[in-house]
Amino acid sequence: MSKEKILVTSALPYANGKIHLGHLSGAYLPADIYVRYKRLKGDDIIYICGSDEHGVPITITADKEKVTPKEIIDRYHFQNKEAFEKFGMSFDIYSRTSIPIHHETSKEFFINYFNQGILKEKKSFQFYDDKAKMFLPDRYVEGTCPNCGNEQARSDECENCGALYDPSELKNPKSKITGETPVLKETSHYYFPLGEYQQRLEDYIKENDEKYHWKENVLQYCKGWFKDGLQDRAVTRDLDWGVSVPLDSAKGKVLYVWFEAVLGYISATKELSYQKNEPDFWKKYWQDPETKYVAFIGKDNVVFHTIVFPAMLMAWNDANKIKYCLPQNVPANEFLNFEGKKFSKSRNWGIDVIDFLNLFPADPLRYTLAANLPENRDTDFYWKEFQARNNNELADILGNFVNRTFTFVHKHFEGKVPKTANLSSADNEMIKLLSEFPAKISGLFEQYKIKDGVSEILNLARAGNKYFNDTEPWKSIKADKDKCGNTINICLNIINTLAELLSPVIPFSSEKIFSMLNSTPTNWDDCGKINLLPGQQLKPAEILFSKIEDNVIEEQMNKLGKCEAQVNTETIEEITIDDFKKIQLRTGVVLKAEAVKKSDKLLKLEVDLGFEKRQVVAGIAQSYKPEDLIGKNILVVANLKPAKLMGLESKGMILAVDNADGKVNLVNPGEGVLPGTRAK
Ligand code: 2FM
Ligand code: ZN
Repeated sequence: MSKEKILVTSALPYANGKIHLGHLSGAYLPADIYVRYKRLKGDDIIYICGSDEHGVPITITADKEKVTPKEIIDRYHFQNKEAFEKFGMSFDIYSRTSIPIHHETSKEFFINYFNQGILKEKKSFQFYDDKAKMFLPDRYVEGTCPNCGNEQARSDECENCGALYDPSELKNPKSKITGETPVLKETSHYYFPLGEYQQRLEDYIKENDEKYHWKENVLQYCKGWFKDGLQDRAVTRDLDWGVSVPLDSAKGKVLYVWFEAVLGYISATKELSYQKNEPDFWKKYWQDPETKYVAFIGKDNVVFHTIVFPAMLMAWNDANKIKYCLPQNVPANEFLNFEGKKFSKSRNWGIDVIDFLNLFPADPLRYTLAANLPENRDTDFYWKEFQARNNNELADILGNFVNRTFTFVHKHFEGKVPKTANLSSADNEMIKLLSEFPAKISGLFEQYKIKDGVSEILNLARAGNKYFNDTEPWKSIKADKDKCGNTINICLNIINTLAELLSPVIPFSSEKIFSMLNSTPTNWDDCGKINLLPGQQLKPAEILFSKIEDNVIEEQMNKLGKCEAQVNTETIEEITIDDFKKIQLRTGVVLKAEAVKKSDKLLKLEVDLGFEKRQVVAGIAQSYKPEDLIGKNILVVANLKPAKLMGLESKGMILAVDNADGKVNLVNPGEGVLPGTRAK
C-alpha cells in the first residue's frame, strides 16, 4: 500500500483546569496510539494539539480567583503539557491559542467571510448585568431550562436535555458574576449562516462515511442536528478576553471561542512550521487534497468538528484558490466515567492525570484505559480493574512471558539468540500465527477499533505462554538442545513482535523490551517475521511491571468523594502531648523580605522573634510579594534545625496552609501578641 499523508488533531483542551483520565480516554490516548501505529507503518503523519485558551469558563475562573485570565491559562497550559508528556503523548506540537499566529489566522478567516458577504450582522437581546456593567455571554448566565426544568441551564442551551432556545425563554436567569437578575439589552453580532450549508454538509458526511466508515455514534449525533435543521450561529461575543473582532465597528467584541478554537489546529501547525524553520510546512498537510485528516474528539465536540468546522472550511474554499482539506473522519469517543459516576472536581470524584502519574507509571494506565476505551458507549475507570489489568495481564501474562524466556536464554544459551533447526509443526504453527498479527492489528487500528486491537495483541502474549508451556523447554534442554533452541528462538521473536505491536500502547515498556533484546522497531508490516539474528547477544531482563498491592488501591478508593481535609486526617499519625511540646511554635514579625536570586519560589526574610532576629528562607514567593510581608505577624517553628536553601541559611520555618487557588496563606496569630510568644 502506498504511503499516506495524514494529519491528526486531538481536541484542544481548555486551559481552565487539570486534565483527568476521562479526557485521555476521549480524544488523546486513542489518537496517540493511532499516530504511533501509523508512524511505524512508515506513513507521513503529523499530530497536532494545544491548549484552548479563550472562552467564558476561563474568564469565570479568573474572576473567581481574582487573577487575570492570562494567569489561569499559563498555569494550566504548562501543567497539562507536562501531564501529557509524562503520559507519553507524542504530539508533534502542543501549541496554545493565545499566541499571535492564532489570533492572526482567526482574524484572517473572519475577514475572509466578512468580505465575501457571508456573515450576517443581526441585532438581538442578550443578558446584561447592570451591576457589573457588562453583557453576559454563554455560561455567565444560569437559569432554569424552559424545556426540562434543569436549574443549571445556560443562557441559550441546556446541557441536560440538549435544548436550544432564545435567552428570553430562560426562566429565573441569574448572573454568575453578581448573582443579580440580568436584564435583556440589545446588542449586535455577526452570524455564520450554518443553515445554508446543511445540504452540502449532509453530502460531505455521507460521502466520507461511505468511503471511510464513520462511527455509528458520530453519524447519529449528526443526524440529530440535521433533523432539527441547522441555524445561523453567532460567531462574536461581548467579552474582552479572546481574539478581537477585526472590525472598527465591533470594538469590545471577540470571536466566539468555538469559531476560533477549531482554527487553532491550523495555527498550531503553522507554529510547528516556524519551529522547523520551514514556513510553508503546514500547507503540505492542510492544503493538499490527498491529505487524510482525522480529528479525534470526545462526544461533546461532535457538532463542532462534523458540522461547524467543515462548513467554515467550505466557506473558505468556495472563495479561495488554495483550499483546505476537511476532516475525512471524526472518530469521536463517548465518555469515560469514574467508578460509576461522572468525574467531578467539586465532589472529588476522579483523579487528575498528573496526580495519577505521581503514583503510578504511565504504561499501566495507558494499557488499562486502552483496553476499556469508550468507543461505542460510556465506560468506567475502576481502581480494581486498573489493579487487575496491571497484575493479571501486564505482569502475569506479558511480563511473565518475557521474564521466563529471558531467564531461560541467559541460563542455558549464554544470553544469545539460539539458532533454529528442524522446526516442528508446533514451531511452524506458532511462526505462522505470529506472522498474521501485524495485519490483524492493522485491520482493527485502521478502523479506530483500538480497544479490540489492544486485546488482540495481548492474545499474542497468551499464545506465546501457551507455546512455551506446550513445547516444554525445561525438558527439551536436557533431551534435545536444538529443539529447545527452536522454542527459545521463537519465543524471543514473539517478544520482539510484541514490543513493536505494543509500542503504540505502552511505549515506555516497549522501549525497555527492545533494549533488552538489543533490537529496534522495524516497519510494522514486517514485524511479525523472524527478525532476530541467531547469536545476537541479549541484555539481562529488567522488571517490566510491578504488582500493585491491595492496600495501595484501597487507599485511593478511600479518598474518593472526600474533601482533602477528610483525606488527610485519615492518614494522620497520632502523637503525644510530649511530642507536640518538643515543637516550639513562636510568633514573629517580618522585618525585611527580599526575593532569592534564581528562585521563583523562595523569599529571604528577617524575622523578629522577640528574643532574637533570624533569617528564614520560605517557599512563598508565588503567593506573596516581598513588600507585602513587612510588618506581618506570623507563626514560626523556632527550634527547627537550621538548613541551607539555595546556599542561604534558614533558621526556622514559617507556618502556612495551602489555599484553594494553589497558593498559600501564612498562618496569622492575630493582633496584640508580642513577638516570641509561644503558641500552645
Ligand atoms: O471541549 C473542549 O475542551 C474544547 N476546548 C475543545 C476544543 S476542540 C477545537 F475546537 F479546538
Ligand atoms: Zn433542559
